[in-house]
Amino acid sequence: MATTGESFEVREGEPILAAARRAGIWLPFECGWGSCGTCKVTLLDGEVDLLFPDAPAVQTRDARRRRTITCQATARSDLTIKPSWASDRPREELPTADHRAELVEVEELGPGIRRFGFRLDAPATYRPGQYAILQLGPGLRRCYSMANLPGSTLVEFIAKRYPGRPGSEGLFASTPGQRLALELPYGDMWLRPGTRPVVLIAGGTGISPILALARQLAATGDARAVHLFYGANTRAELVCWEELTALAAAMPDATLHGALLRPGPGWTHTTGFVTEALEPHLGRLVDSDFYLAGPPPMADAVLALLRAHGVQLDRIHFDRFG
Ligand SMILES: Cc1cc2nc3c(=O)[nH]c(=O)nc-3n(C[C@H](O)[C@H](O)[C@H](O)COP(=O)(O)OP(=O)(O)OC[C@H]3O[C@@H](n4cnc5c(N)ncnc54)[C@H](O)[C@@H]3O)c2cc1C
Ligand code: FES
Repeated sequence: MATTGESFEVREGEPILAAARRAGIWLPFECGWGSCGTCKVTLLDGEVDLLFPDAPAVQTRDARRRRTITCQATARSDLTIKPSWASDRPREELPTADHRAELVEVEELGPGIRRFGFRLDAPATYRPGQYAILQLGPGLRRCYSMANLPGSTLVEFIAKRYPGRPGSEGLFASTPGQRLALELPYGDMWLRPGTRPVVLIAGGTGISPILALARQLAATGDARAVHLFYGANTRAELVCWEELTALAAAMPDATLHGALLRPGPGWTHTTGFVTEALEPHLGRLVDSDFYLAGPPPMADAVLALLRAHGVQLDRIHFDRFG
């Protein structure tokens, strides 16, 4: 590495970021899969191959400027790179580690929605709201957010099956006993300290990290006001609703709002998108800390709504599932 003079080996097909971590060298990163651009470095010498050329953080001008993202680039030749910084220890919120994991539990939660429990080779260190990257096949790395609290060797993910798409097909084809490699934690959607109200917003399987945050708030007896919004298509897809109801009841000051596109009889919450449940409350919640997760259309709609209501950008923490 040019800036520190250190060198490390990148295995065939291995992301440069992972190779550096394996060598005890910490380079800048955040998302780990190609969306944020935090890991961009300058290539002083040598050539790389991009493992995910369509990654959102890859820009057409990068090649001209000799810049690349280390989380999705591997070495084609000997390389000299210039990162913005390098350290021999991880940042406190991102102590990312490589684990071996065995699938030990699979539970059907709703139509095409399952909870997967993996037993790791060592206790998992992460903050509720963060996610793991699972190696679901050769070159098939996908992000899944932990639904349970850290501290044990078990990590749980709530995932939806998308027929014909490789990551979710790979995960849903897994049966107990199956082993895979998994890296965690990644991401920035962890609970900030403070006294402002907390607004948690989940769309579909966005419930996975939002449930972890709700479990954390309930377990720690956090005194802040908490407003939970959770949307899905049908009541059967609104998985973990009962647990969320119990968690809200256990918090000192929490309210729970549901939104269903196609509700059945007896549904007393909003009919429509989660944005329709959220909007009537936004006027008085504008000074809150917001945490949101879900599929891209939902995340984009909520982000647009928050911006339109003047929520400060540094108070919005989100994971857009794609
Ligand atoms: C931060 C984050 C957290 C997530 N948490 C959950 C969760 O808890 N539960 C859940 O069900 N889903 C979650 N997802 C979505 C999940 O990772 C998959 O996108 C989804 O299962 C569909 O993947 P697929 O391979 O089946 O579909 P595909 O259409 O093949 O891929 C879906 C997405 O994966 C990404 N991708 C494609 N190629 C690569 C690559 N080479 N390397 C890395 N990424 C690539 C792209 O963003 C693409 O849009 C999360 C996504 C993100 C980004
Ligand atoms: S693009 Fe986010 S860490 Fe590489």
